[in-house]
Amino acid sequence: MAESEKKNEDSIGTEFGAETGDPGAQAQAAVDATTADSQAVSASSGTERAEPAEPGAAVADVAPIEPVEEPQSFTVTVIVRRFDPEVDEEPRWVDYDVQMFSTERILDALHRIKWEQDPSLAFRRSCAHGVCGSDAMRINGKNRLACKALVKDFDTSKPIYVEAIKGLPLEKDLIVNMEPFFDSFREIQPFLVAAGKPDKERHQTIAQRERFDDTTKCILCAACTTSCPIFWTDGQYFGPAAIVNAHRFIFDSRDEASQVRLDILNDREGVWRCRTTFNCTDACPRGIQVTKAIQEVKQALVTGVRL
Ligand code: SF4
Ligand code: FES
Repeated sequence: MAESEKKNEDSIGTEFGAETGDPGAQAQAAVDATTADSQAVSASSGTERAEPAEPGAAVADVAPIEPVEEPQSFTVTVIVRRFDPEVDEEPRWVDYDVQMFSTERILDALHRIKWEQDPSLAFRRSCAHGVCGSDAMRINGKNRLACKALVKDFDTSKPIYVEAIKGLPLEKDLIVNMEPFFDSFREIQPFLVAAGKPDKERHQTIAQRERFDDTTKCILCAACTTSCPIFWTDGQYFGPAAIVNAHRFIFDSRDEASQVRLDILNDREGVWRCRTTFNCTDACPRGIQVTKAIQEVKQALVTGVRL
């Protein structure tokens, strides 16, 4: 029998003894159990324990501990498109040098500018973790969430350009008026319409739930809609986000208003305006297959089938 197994047995035996209420036996049980545990761990991991060095003995060769490299900050130039409606006639680009670590996000750079250099800088953010969808902005010409855009993913030898998302009325600096975006969202009736009250829950198979799983992930950040060239030129177009949220209910087997939504999207400003440029899919921070969802809605309109 292995030494550690024997010790284990011994300690179990002692623990039974400890239940008799003998304080000495209890203390010994705790010591034995600890010893046996540590030996078992040592045996299972194959780690050999070094003998304690005698006083004055030569120090044995041990692998030197690699010094942990301190993360180094560096200067990043962030150029922000500023606009104050009270003083500016046109937006203007303003440079800021910011000390950053590579693991930080563009949102951290904006915070640093606001807190350390210019408190008048205006932008939206809330969760700072890609959940609330409030900090979509155009960074180096591409729509992203500032809280998910890592500094290390940019070429920091060049400036990083940050501006408001396009196609919605600019209010101040990086803040746009989101109302037209939410108007389109509200128009497609983004809620379950189901008559009657079931005894328990409304049943759905796994496959039926899968059918619209992708489009449930939308956080309404508007990155897709405001990266769409059709939306830039025609603000009346419902836009990808509204269609994504219509898709989420059109293909829900429990919903009874799918035809209403399909009729709304069959409009002149509905799905037929989409020219499949894929900008929306590229921009979506949630990885939703936005263009595919739009195509599926088009297909349902043509075939009348919601499969
Ligand atoms: S589909 Fe993606 S990009 Fe569009 S609003 Fe929803 S989360 Fe944002
Ligand atoms: S701050 Fe919430 S998604 Fe970026």
